[in-house]
Amino acid sequence: MAALPESEYMSSVWKDGIFDNKVVFCTGGAGTICSAQVRALVRLGANAMIIGRNVEKTETMAKSIATARKGSKVIGIGAVDVRKIQDLEGAVARCVKELGGIDYVIAGAAGNFISPISGLSSNAFKTVIDIDTIGSFNTLKATVPELIKSAKKNPNTGTNPSTGGRIIFISASFHLTGMPLQAHAAVAKAGVDALSATTALEYGPRGITSNIITPGPISGTEGMARLGSREAEGNGNAYKKVPLQRYGLVKEIADGTIYLFSDAGNYVNGEVLVIDGGDWRSPGAPGGATSAYPDYLLDSTFERKSKL
Ligand code: HXC
Repeated sequence: MAALPESEYMSSVWKDGIFDNKVVFCTGGAGTICSAQVRALVRLGANAMIIGRNVEKTETMAKSIATARKGSKVIGIGAVDVRKIQDLEGAVARCVKELGGIDYVIAGAAGNFISPISGLSSNAFKTVIDIDTIGSFNTLKATVPELIKSAKKNPNTGTNPSTGGRIIFISASFHLTGMPLQAHAAVAKAGVDALSATTALEYGPRGITSNIITPGPISGTEGMARLGSREAEGNGNAYKKVPLQRYGLVKEIADGTIYLFSDAGNYVNGEVLVIDGGDWRSPGAPGGATSAYPDYLLDSTFERKSKL
């Protein structure tokens, strides 16, 4: 398997070996964004365990990520559902046994679809809360004993370049403003933000940092593919709503991850790092894409026509 060009998953400003002998544990690690995050950390020295629901997709992605650095160890475990704490505990035990511990966690597993509230059943709403919010909580609960050990081994003094005991939750910006067609995800991610903030307060004294990364519209992701098919039905220029006038790149999310896990991020705790080109601020901008109240909120365009 050929290695991806580095420029596709991280910037050239980072130093080799900053994550040597460290281990990252990532849920949703076979996804486009999380795999770029893990690939960058592996390239800079870390070993990794990625987990997901799909066995083949997760194992194949682990092999691909391993090409980022000769001698790296990257384990992919499928059939792990973050809604089940036992699944996560099993994966953590295996990570500790095979990779020696956990220094960094990325809680990235998410579930989503587009639907107005009128098209959401109670179970549909609950499903996304279960995956995003409960899944993030389960990830924290299962990994925090290892994060505590790592933070103890790598004291956050401000001058110690060897970091550990860090968690990043992947969130979204839907709840910052409210978002049509995303009530389920907005509520779920608001909970994730609150969980991270509370983790920062409760575990900060143990040396752990907890932060949120909020990706905006990122090219080539599953989320964008879902939105993109809808956009194609319109005029295809939704990027114009983004102040920077383009969609983001997965490498831009990986760069934020490296920053927060490296000693450059030592004093960043309980923070939300929004990487979206300024997108979440723009819906109300004069002349913005939503300046006319959209027809799709007045009719049933986005209601599911048939079961998936
Ligand atoms: C309304 C829907 C729906 C839809 C599913 N449901 N899709 N309701 N509109 N389009 C309802 C079902 O009818 C059911 O309710 C309930 O949700 C649970 O559905 P299941 O298929 O049984 O759930 P499950 O197999 O657990 O799958 C979870 C999932 C699925 C979230 C529905 O899409 C999934 O597994 N997604 C994982 C990958 C993913 O979503 N990645 C995107 C992340 S991107 P009833 O009442 O019928 O029982 C991201 C960025 C956001 O998060 C980008 C914006 C899109």
